[in-house]
Amino acid sequence: MAVRAIVYERNGDPASVLRTVTFPPEPLSRKSIRVKVLLSLVNPSDLHVVHGSYAIQPDPREVDVNGKRKTVYLPGNEGLGEIAEVGPDVESLKSGDWVVFSKSQSGTWSSGQVLEEDDVIKIDEGSGISAVTAATLTVNPATAYKMLTSFVDLKPGDWIAQNAANSSAGQAVIQLASARGIHTINLIRKKDDFAKTERLLKDLGADVVLTYDDVADDERAREVVGDKEVRLLLDCVGGQGTKDTLRLASKGSHLVVYGSMAQEDLRLPPFLLIFKDIHVRGFWRTGWFNSSTLEERSKFLDELVQVMVNSKFKEPVHEIVKIEGTLSDEEATGKVQEIFERVNKGTGGTKIILEVETPRGF
Ligand SMILES: NC(=O)c1ccc[n+]([C@@H]2O[C@H](COP(=O)([O-])OP(=O)(O)OC[C@H]3O[C@@H](n4cnc5c(N)ncnc54)[C@H](OP(=O)(O)O)[C@@H]3O)[C@@H](O)[C@H]2O)c1
Repeated sequence: MAVRAIVYERNGDPASVLRTVTFPPEPLSRKSIRVKVLLSLVNPSDLHVVHGSYAIQPDPREVDVNGKRKTVYLPGNEGLGEIAEVGPDVESLKSGDWVVFSKSQSGTWSSGQVLEEDDVIKIDEGSGISAVTAATLTVNPATAYKMLTSFVDLKPGDWIAQNAANSSAGQAVIQLASARGIHTINLIRKKDDFAKTERLLKDLGADVVLTYDDVADDERAREVVGDKEVRLLLDCVGGQGTKDTLRLASKGSHLVVYGSMAQEDLRLPPFLLIFKDIHVRGFWRTGWFNSSTLEERSKFLDELVQVMVNSKFKEPVHEIVKIEGTLSDEEATGKVQEIFERVNKGTGGTKIILEVETPRGF
């Protein structure tokens, strides 16, 4: 069956450079697997990849489009796949298994991929995890879980603070922290529907939800913190967002920087760092996955799935956008451009999930 993929030939604005192509299926080698991509995520890092501003790029791929050889890049790093076929030497997977992608930049914005057995991790469908939760597992919940368990030995009753708390990553932090009895102070941007977002986050287990303005000076921040000891601060904003979040720090806190939504350098007031002895660290889930063994990654994800299922983890707020198999490549490209124009404007905390159907009639 033909494969449809969203691709780019040169870096740039995703709304301009992405297009959809259809090409014949690749043959399977003895150790490879054919994966049908059921759902794939559009994450902020994917936009950086297409722009060319991320640390890594997908490998260039030679594909046959309308009889012409083309070199293209297939973006898409996260998603849920179903094994469609396995090579004769594949032992750990069989047709119908659910898998997530452990190889970075696997090209998940497509209807299917041929990969190696070790490029994916099997997900136990019987665990009760939903397709959307499984599709969104390896980036945000994995990052949240790793950050909550790696830097500070948090105990039930401890406090942490984070910014961009309404992001999918922030929602995962709230839920995974709350499941362990860890309290959260959550900063978000001022918005007309603040009360709605506050309700959403509190329903996930957030203790305190505030805007950056609420902690915009030391006195207001002190009032918010009171006698709480805030031991871990998670920052995916940068710029002023870092400075506002740091005001909530207690002595000896760890600031973990894992994103740069404001695309500005961190503002780190020297006296705050000095007098409060703040430890500043960075975290990159891809870097950690790449430096771990398949066994370690599988064990980590099994544990995470268990925690999520046991704590009745809620799916991130999302919208599934289907690229129908009945569309021509030109029509599908038009749809993709519309999606990324919306993404460029910001989707207000709603995660866009793609469902690229296998093209029909090719
Ligand atoms: N290092 C890692 O391994 C790793 C792993 C996962 C995620 N991340 C990073 O975590 C961040 C969140 O990812 P996500 O998938 O959860 O994103 P998301 O669901 O798309 O949410 C984006 C968030 O960023 C906020 N935001 C956007 N522009 C902003 C600005 N200029 N100032 C302050 N806030 C801004 C949005 O707030 P509004 O609703 O107010 O627009 C929203 O809360 C990204 O930077 C991503 O790259 C890093």
